[in-house]
Amino acid sequence: MIQVNNLTKEFLQGQQSTQVLKGIDLNIKEGEFVAIMGPSGSGKSTLLQLLGGLDLPTDGDIEINHNLLNKMKEKERTIFRRRNIGFVFQNYQLLPTLTVEENIAFPLHADGKLTNEKAKTIDELIRSVGLEGLNDKRVNLLSGGQQQRVAIARALVNNPTVLLADEPTGNLDRSMAEEILVLFSKFHRENKQTIVMVTHDIFAAGFADRIILFRDGAIDQDISRRDGDYAKHLANFMA
Ligand SMILES: Nc1ncnc2c1ncn2[C@@H]1O[C@H](COP(=O)(O)OP(=O)(O)OP(=O)(O)O)[C@@H](O)[C@H]1O
Ligand SMILES: [Mg+2]
Repeated sequence: MIQVNNLTKEFLQGQQSTQVLKGIDLNIKEGEFVAIMGPSGSGKSTLLQLLGGLDLPTDGDIEINHNLLNKMKEKERTIFRRRNIGFVFQNYQLLPTLTVEENIAFPLHADGKLTNEKAKTIDELIRSVGLEGLNDKRVNLLSGGQQQRVAIARALVNNPTVLLADEPTGNLDRSMAEEILVLFSKFHRENKQTIVMVTHDIFAAGFADRIILFRDGAIDQDISRRDGDYAKHLANFMA
């Protein structure tokens, strides 16, 4: 599903070049729910941006469903991203004066294909994220947890192959965070949605079935629930 080979990212600042990703190899299977953890500045958001085709690597390859993202022309990559990748951010990034329904439908307009079939999907999506009855509410009147639900529904409106989330619970208190994580688990379990979630929170990471620990632009640990001793590894992470 997601195949990353020798992924390298350098940022130039003046004369100074910093290597933020140092040749990462990573394979994520269809339907996996992966958490990415690691210290601030270790390159987690940079990786997510590259996986989503929002930025280009300095070197290396990123394949999503056998489509080589880094070889696409910019326009082609934009269209691929709209149709195949859903993003959720820490600060929701909604359009504040639009309603719940308008925000969720927004990506469909960008693609010029708002059909009745999709409109039905929007109703279903609103229900599936637990916002029934709030279709016409302006999103700036909602709680943080509700706004993040809108953002998740918007990310899923095009049936993306992959859902990428960068600290989706970073602005939420524990109980709202848990609601969002339960939602991710539901989409992962029921729709076999592939999810890659960056988080600082071991509680959030515990919802994933694989945790990748980043350090200094490289993968330091990669543990899977199926490996056994998962709880022990989690405890080590927290130490
Ligand atoms: N556009 C950019 N230009 C220059 N340097 C950048 C750019 N984006 C990121 N960096 C640098 O790359 C490094 C990794 O940043 P990144 O945002 O990926 O870290 P992170 O692991 O997501 O951190 P955090 O947990 O704080 O969100 C940092 O040193 C950052 O300053
Ligand atoms: Mg980050």
